[in-house]
Amino acid sequence: MIPVHSACLSWRRRLGRLVVLSLAMCALLLAPLASQALENGLARTPPMGWNSWNRFGCKNVNEKVVRAAADAMVSSGMKAAGYQYIVIDDCWQIGRDAAGNILADPKSYPSGIKALADYVHSKGLKFGIYTDAGVKTCAGRPGSLGHEYQDAAQYARWGVDFVKEDWCNTVPGQDSEASYTVMRNALAATGRPIVFSICEWGSTKPWLWAGPIGNMWRAAGDIQNCWSCQRTWGGHGVLQIIDLMDSIYSYSGPGHWNDPDMLEVGNGGMTDAEYRAHFSLWALFSAPLISGNDISQMSEATKEILLNKEVIAVDQDPMGIQGHRVQKDGDLEVWSKQLSDGGRAVVLLNRSDKPATITADWTAIGYPSKLKAQVRDLWLHQDMAPHTGSYAAEVPGDAAVMVRITP
Ligand code: GLA
Repeated sequence: MIPVHSACLSWRRRLGRLVVLSLAMCALLLAPLASQALENGLARTPPMGWNSWNRFGCKNVNEKVVRAAADAMVSSGMKAAGYQYIVIDDCWQIGRDAAGNILADPKSYPSGIKALADYVHSKGLKFGIYTDAGVKTCAGRPGSLGHEYQDAAQYARWGVDFVKEDWCNTVPGQDSEASYTVMRNALAATGRPIVFSICEWGSTKPWLWAGPIGNMWRAAGDIQNCWSCQRTWGGHGVLQIIDLMDSIYSYSGPGHWNDPDMLEVGNGGMTDAEYRAHFSLWALFSAPLISGNDISQMSEATKEILLNKEVIAVDQDPMGIQGHRVQKDGDLEVWSKQLSDGGRAVVLLNRSDKPATITADWTAIGYPSKLKAQVRDLWLHQDMAPHTGSYAAEVPGDAAVMVRITP
């Protein structure tokens, strides 16, 4: 007869082996998931910064504008709130020298890109630049096709920390995954940590292939400075972009983010309430928060939006889960994002132009209906009374209420 304690021991050993085996199987199953992210150690939370395009386009961007943006990022408190990257979009390039090296436009950048990068770095910020995977950029400047390694090496010499690569003027048959892989490898070969931002406008479903290639990829065509609009060439308003983002929420995560495009907050085409909703939803998406306004001249209302630390904390939650729509009743919607403390960020969105009461049910956000939870309004900066089962608020037309719910 086996003594009771040794029988127990052998069962414990078997149980132990079972646990080890299960853990090993889990690790095997999770391995392909883990390798979905570009492992360059960057963008573990969504990148935050400023980009010249939405406000300055091609004609009005130059080194003065970029320096002023760097100055303003510090003086406005944006740097302290987490914004870091100063990115020059299209039109800094003018041509190539005889050896094929990319040249900056001497009219707009007389001091050169290296001096500008040094200036941005001297402010404790990081510096980003734009290129294109085709022959020319969207504004007709030289693209990187066939020059990827040469360009990446040049960016690294200048001290570039972020590269956005666009998808205009590609050659017939050019494959997006293969092209962006070439630039990823070229950037990696420099040895410099460089965030890689893929911009092919969602045209070849980058969320399906770009995880191991880029740190972020555009989910849609260019954002327009409007709440609800659709341009024939593929530009979208805020409401059109959020619908696209909803369908791909599961593909985003630390190091590899769905990118709904740069912010329009402060550019004047929407009301402040619409801009608050725009910013709330971008945070709920764990989207890169790249301001696209003139940050050297911001109204108090714009500052209050871009500097809302409670909303930014939702965006930067370390678990990096993208929120999505959990309730829809015509134009009245509830969006929810799981947070690392077990809480939820919830956006009550009113897409109609009339005020309405919107109710978030606990069951829709993944809580038992009997649970009592704390509710904090992230725009009023106010704790509401604890709630059980649901939270309802009156939401003005074309606007959103954003709360943080903590069990
Ligand atoms: C495309 C991109 C924009 C911007 C412009 C520059 O439209 O999607 O974000 O970079 O090109 O020309």
